[in-house]
Amino acid sequence: MSTTNKKTGRISVPDLRARKGGEPIVCLTAYTTPMAQRLDDHCDLLLVGDSLGMVVYGMDSTLSVTVDMMVNHGKAVMRGAKNACVVVDLPFGSYQESKEQAFRTASHILAETGCAAVKLEGGAEMADTIEFLSARGVPVMAHIGLMPQQVNTMGGFKSQGRDDDAAIKMINDAKAVAKAGAFSVVVEGTVEAVARRITKAIDVPTIGIGASVACDGQVLVTEDILGLFSDFTPKFVKRYANLGDAVSEAVGQYADDVRNRKFPADEHCFGIPKKGKLRAV
Ligand code: KIV
Repeated sequence: MSTTNKKTGRISVPDLRARKGGEPIVCLTAYTTPMAQRLDDHCDLLLVGDSLGMVVYGMDSTLSVTVDMMVNHGKAVMRGAKNACVVVDLPFGSYQESKEQAFRTASHILAETGCAAVKLEGGAEMADTIEFLSARGVPVMAHIGLMPQQVNTMGGFKSQGRDDDAAIKMINDAKAVAKAGAFSVVVEGTVEAVARRITKAIDVPTIGIGASVACDGQVLVTEDILGLFSDFTPKFVKRYANLGDAVSEAVGQYADDVRNRKFPADEHCFGIPKKGKLRAV
């Protein structure tokens, strides 16, 4: 359970920021209202991740996700979450061109959805943008390490920080985005020792995904932990349920019932009124 009393309202960006080094921050992705309702009581933070392109829309990567998709799913999650802080991803191509472009996209997403903050991918090269947004009322969560929007330059979804140069670059990236004003940093697919160094080196919470227990919080894709997405399962995912199989079984039973005329049964049908002309026909 999150620590914020429901009566005091939603967990805020400063609340999360203040959790550095304290109780671990619980985060999951959410894309829809019903899922957000289910997650809200248990999570401090709900991330409307652009992973929805792959998980919900069946895309091969996150690169084709649009701002409109993020706005629509952001609104849906805000309708379902009453307690958790909601952060929405800036999709590929909507912020990298300039800090002004980033501000236009981020302010549009904040205004349309009512979410608390946006997340963007990138290290030191995004520091100016993060500073620009933060100074203008847009809280920013940074995302370093394995960055799915850079799948083409990274040559696949590969773990990061594996040699000294890469590790030093990542630590410098983390310092740069934190100094620029990011209130939190997602560290994805990163060697444990590097994630630990990063967490020690910056004064804002790190949220790990495949980056070890050293981080100040954890995030996973909800469909991964529930067994609802099985195109591929990264090593860092722990599966807590197998709802995909449960869905197949339930739907199979429904199909059998329909084919065997067992559904609908009497209790699912509207009866004829006790009195009236129809009875006599
Ligand atoms: O898009 C996403 O869901 C993410 C998380 C997995 C960190 O960026």
